[in-house]
Amino acid sequence: MQTSVTTIDRFINEQEDQYPAATGELSSLLYDIALAAKLIAAAIRRAGLVNILGTAGAQNVQGEEQQKLDVFANETIKNCLKHTGRVCVMGSEEDEDIIPVPTEYEAGKYAVLFDPLDGSSNIDVNSAVGTIFSIHRRRSIDGRGTSADVLQPGCTQVAAGYVMYGSSTMLVYTTGQGVHGFTLDPTIGEFLLSHERIVTPRIGKYYSVNESNFGRWDKGTQTAVRGLKGDTPDVVAPKNSRYIGSLVADFHRNLITGGVFLYPADARNPDGKLRLLYEASPMAFIAEQAQGSATDGMNRILDIVPLNLHQRVPLVIGSREDVGFVADTLRRVAQRASGPIAQPAL
Ligand code: AHG
Ligand code: MN
Ligand code: MN
Repeated sequence: MQTSVTTIDRFINEQEDQYPAATGELSSLLYDIALAAKLIAAAIRRAGLVNILGTAGAQNVQGEEQQKLDVFANETIKNCLKHTGRVCVMGSEEDEDIIPVPTEYEAGKYAVLFDPLDGSSNIDVNSAVGTIFSIHRRRSIDGRGTSADVLQPGCTQVAAGYVMYGSSTMLVYTTGQGVHGFTLDPTIGEFLLSHERIVTPRIGKYYSVNESNFGRWDKGTQTAVRGLKGDTPDVVAPKNSRYIGSLVADFHRNLITGGVFLYPADARNPDGKLRLLYEASPMAFIAEQAQGSATDGMNRILDIVPLNLHQRVPLVIGSREDVGFVADTLRRVAQRASGPIAQPAL
C-alpha cells in the first residue's frame, strides 16, 4: 500500500507557492471545480441505474424530480462556485446568457466558462463524457461581472482544464506551467497526481473526425483528411482513425498517444460545431502547454477575439506537426482555388 501520494490540493498549492505574489484564490477556485467534478462523477457512475431507479423527469426516492445529467452538471458547477467570493460571472453551454453571481454573494476576481457535460449523447450508451472549464481574470473593475469578463481571447486564460468521466475519472489542467493530470481515487475521494507535465508527441498515431460529414467539407478539408489516411505518405505519416464523438475523450486520447482532432466547417455548420469559449479555447490552452497546437485553419485558436458567448469555431487540434500539415493543406488548396497570388509591383 502506497503511503505517499500527491493530492490535487497539495499540487496546486505547491505550484502557486512558486509565485510569492499569488493570493491562493486561483488554487481555491481550481479546488472548487475539483469538488464539482467529484459530485458529477458520482452522479454519472449511477447513470446506468436510471432505468431501475427512475428516468429523467420522474421522481426520486426523496420525492425530488430526477434531472437530466447535463442539467445536473450545470447546476452543480454553479452551486460550487457562486458563493465562494472568487467568481464574478460565469458562462455555460447550458445557459443562454452570462450568469453574474447572485447579489447575496461577494463577487470575486475571476470569470469562469464551462461546458458542464461534454459528449452528453454518450451517456445513454455508457461511454466517456467530460466537463471543460476556462478561467479568466475579470476585466471589469468591480461589482457583478459583465460580458466583457467572459468575452476574452483564449490567450488571456489563467487556467483551463477538463474532467473525463471514463473508466476512471481524470482531471487535467494547466495554469500556464505545463499540463498535469490527476486520477480520482474513489475509495478516498481524492484526485491524486498521476500524469505530471504531460507532453504530447510531435507526430501522432491517430486522426479523429466525424467522417460522415466528408461530402459536406470543402476541397481543402477533404484533401487534408485523405492525407491523414495515407494518400500522401511522403508528406504526412498515415494514421489510424479513432472517433468517440465526445471532444474530451477524443482530445484526451490524442493528448496522451499523439494525434489530431478535427471538427471543421461543413455545408451544414459553416463555423464548425464546437464552441470557442468553453470547448476550443480551453482545449487549445492545454494543447499548447503540452507542446501541441490548435488552429481554426487560418488563425491560432488562442488569438481569436470572441464576439459572443456561444460562438462556434472550426477546430484542428493536437500534435504540432499534424495540425501544421492540416493547416498547410487548407491554405494550399484555398490558394489554388483562388488562383495565383498577385506579386507585389516593384
Ligand atoms: P456537447 O455534448 O457538449 O453538446 O458536445 C458534443 C460535441 C463534442 O463533444 C463532440 O466532439 C462533437 O459534439 C461531436 O459531434 P458529432 O456528433 O457531430 O460528430
Ligand atoms: Mn461539448
Ligand atoms: Mn455539453
